[in-house]
Amino acid sequence: MSSFICPVCRTGLLKTEKTYVCENGHSFDIAKKGYVNLLMSQAGGQHGDDKTMIVARADFLNRGFYDILSRRICECVDEHCGHGARILDAGCGECKYTADIYEYLTREGKMAEVIGIDISKEALGYAKRRTNKLQLAVASTADMPVESKSVDAVVNIFAPFSAGEFSRVLRDDGIIIRVYPLARHLWELKELIYDVPYENPETDMEEQGLCVVARYEVKYKMDFETNEDIMSLFKMTPYFYRTGDEDKKKLERASNLTCRAEFGIVVYKKK
Ligand SMILES: C[S@@+](CC[C@H](N)C(=O)[O-])C[C@H]1O[C@@H](n2cnc3c(N)ncnc32)[C@H](O)[C@@H]1O
Ligand SMILES: [Zn+2]
Repeated sequence: MSSFICPVCRTGLLKTEKTYVCENGHSFDIAKKGYVNLLMSQAGGQHGDDKTMIVARADFLNRGFYDILSRRICECVDEHCGHGARILDAGCGECKYTADIYEYLTREGKMAEVIGIDISKEALGYAKRRTNKLQLAVASTADMPVESKSVDAVVNIFAPFSAGEFSRVLRDDGIIIRVYPLARHLWELKELIYDVPYENPETDMEEQGLCVVARYEVKYKMDFETNEDIMSLFKMTPYFYRTGDEDKKKLERASNLTCRAEFGIVVYKKK
């Protein structure tokens, strides 16, 4: 059986060369870019991040500024997962961290199965440029085409968190690793744009049915030495879409910037 279950009848999906098929004959084509679309609501319109957002994030991440964070996430997964573990990146985007996790565990000699789920098919379409070793499905984090109690670690990085659904797919001794921005993440970028910058709101990390078993903070300074690097950062943030032309011009004039990156990591287990 494959990593996925049928979104229609919830039985296991068998992977063939070009499709995933269940015992009841429901069949789902594998896209040329390697993912399968298992999203039940195929209503028109854009689901999740669009192509511009995906390309901007990939461009920024490829410059290496979040590699310190990625390394910490990989270590955290490695610490908790043994040989042959099944890891699910829920809201994986264009799979920077998903691919890093796969490569890290492989280097550690652990033959892990790494699954990526995102509601944006543009995001998963990009992932093939990173690796073809991932199992990728278009789906919502609120209703994942994954068997109950089959996953050792759910990773959730700056993406919608679904406590009930993550608990369902998790083995009883599994863990959830959640990554989120701390209050002053990207503070100096905001100072450049806004007269009165505001802090990111503190999110309550308590979740029903889950207990927090570890918390970490990853804080470091990023040195941007060209305007291109600064614009690359700006374009992948939500501020890019909320900022007026006048404020955008302030950034176009900036030639260097030292900016803090501050992330929180929470590790949960099931109660
Ligand atoms: C800020 S991006 C983070 C992506 C990736 N984890 C990263 O850090 O590079 C948020 C992602 O969540 C996805 N997303 C939004 N709503 C979703 C949902 N209901 N189910 C699955 N993915 C969702 C978006 O398409 C986008 O790729
Ligand atoms: Zn089926």
